[in-house]
Amino acid sequence: MTEQAHWWQRGIIYQVYPRSFMDRNGDGVGDLAGVTSRLEYLEWLGVDAIWLSPFFPSPMADFGYDVSNYVDVHPLFGTLGDFDRLVAEAHRRALKVIVDFVPNHTSDEHPWFQESRSSRDSPRRDWYIWRDPAPNGGPPNNWLAIFGGSAWQSDTTTGQYYYHAFLPRQPDLNWRLPEVRDAMYDVLRFWLDRGADGFRLDAVWYLFEDEQLRDNPPNPDYRPGDDPYHALLAAFTSDLPEMQEVMAEMRAVLDGYDERVMIGEIYLPIERLVAYYGVNGNGCHLPANFQLILQPWDAAHIGAVVDRYEAALPDGAWPNWVLGNHDKPRVASRIGPAQARVAAVLLLTLRGTPTMYQGDEIGMHDVEIPPDRAQDPIERHVPGLGLGRDPERTPMQWDSGPQAGFTDGTPWLPLADDAARVNVAAERDDPRSILTLYRRLIALRRAEPALQVGCYVPVPVEGNLLGYRRELDGSEFLVALNLGDIEQEFAPRQPDLRGPIELSTHLDRTGETVDGSFRLRAHEAVVVRLK
Ligand code: GLC
Repeated sequence: MTEQAHWWQRGIIYQVYPRSFMDRNGDGVGDLAGVTSRLEYLEWLGVDAIWLSPFFPSPMADFGYDVSNYVDVHPLFGTLGDFDRLVAEAHRRALKVIVDFVPNHTSDEHPWFQESRSSRDSPRRDWYIWRDPAPNGGPPNNWLAIFGGSAWQSDTTTGQYYYHAFLPRQPDLNWRLPEVRDAMYDVLRFWLDRGADGFRLDAVWYLFEDEQLRDNPPNPDYRPGDDPYHALLAAFTSDLPEMQEVMAEMRAVLDGYDERVMIGEIYLPIERLVAYYGVNGNGCHLPANFQLILQPWDAAHIGAVVDRYEAALPDGAWPNWVLGNHDKPRVASRIGPAQARVAAVLLLTLRGTPTMYQGDEIGMHDVEIPPDRAQDPIERHVPGLGLGRDPERTPMQWDSGPQAGFTDGTPWLPLADDAARVNVAAERDDPRSILTLYRRLIALRRAEPALQVGCYVPVPVEGNLLGYRRELDGSEFLVALNLGDIEQEFAPRQPDLRGPIELSTHLDRTGETVDGSFRLRAHEAVVVRLK
């Protein structure tokens, strides 16, 4: 398995949010040259691939997820030359580069949309989704936008409405049109030819909407005060079967190149998520699995979801786990700093490709953003519900200097108040830091094929504890994790588990031999070498 395994199965993916990673030109916004200047750190950390959130020309209504030109670099982030240098330097260090591809929608400033909206007869009219108003002049149906309000925007030029799953400034492309598909597949080829090692497909389960425009049904579980988008079930606006064909076509484009990876952003229940592996594996290599973000953090929920996921995987499908991203509260804030260390052990020892989010490895937490500094469009469209994503997008903390070493200018979002203490330079050589824990876990995973590609065998235990074994070719590890804040006895029914602790969240136990049942302190996790 080890030799045949692809890099994206063995490796670890690290998400870079370029706006907030490293600023080299002093404008307070990170850039591609900044990413290149920090590749040495990523190599030192031991990850295998970076996924870059969008760096394309964009009016930045949704911070780059509103693309106005798919085949260039926004001047804020640099130039195509900077991208080429980044790729060359990354490849020199054996790091892969994954590009964010935003297929569902463009910016309203994209020339395709400008042309489409200019007249009903425009040759590009059907590139987007235009419909007449309802008889009362209102939107064509009840569909809601994820970022608030109706998903239909009326356009006075032609008296029709256009559909937008997200912001009105993010009109949806019409993927039923072959010309749209061809143009978008050309975009994939453009970046593949430039050396991109794959794509993360943004919001890919939203690509199609019901052709008959049937109303979405009410959500019976909706409670007042919830995100208004969830008042309806997205039955006719997401996860439609047409998706399969497009995914297979995208995959065929990637398969024309060597060893490229296709990752899908898909927030769906496990049983639907796995459909995005495609038919006989002709879809995404890695439909992103967000269960570690979405489940309540206790052993019952996490244990059950790992088992459910493992059971649902189609034949030959490779699992993956995501602990954080630029859209969700940071793990250290969700479950607390002590459990964030346990989560690191879990992420890096489960079976499946791990995806980490920049800054989680140093224990960054959400930063409260004063209302007058809010940047995220969600916060401005649907204020007061805590939906804003700025708190998890604050600048990476590199050192204890001014602006945490992120910029010489004024950062676009404020820095965390503990940046002088929580940063790469301060944690690099501190044996107790979460950064050291991450680095050691990554090194162990890299050194041990059983942890990369070995099979996963649950070890049932009582209490708020998780246990499992990973094994391959006679080498075997036990992972034991305490997801609670009290000491508990790890007492597996299987009595013969014995061996030295190879790595632990609490340094003092490394080398200790455990035999049968043993104590795990609050927030403690250990990796034991069994064979
Ligand atoms: C994805 C991105 C998110 C963006 C949205 C619309 O969910 O991760 O940041 O706002 O798509 O493109």
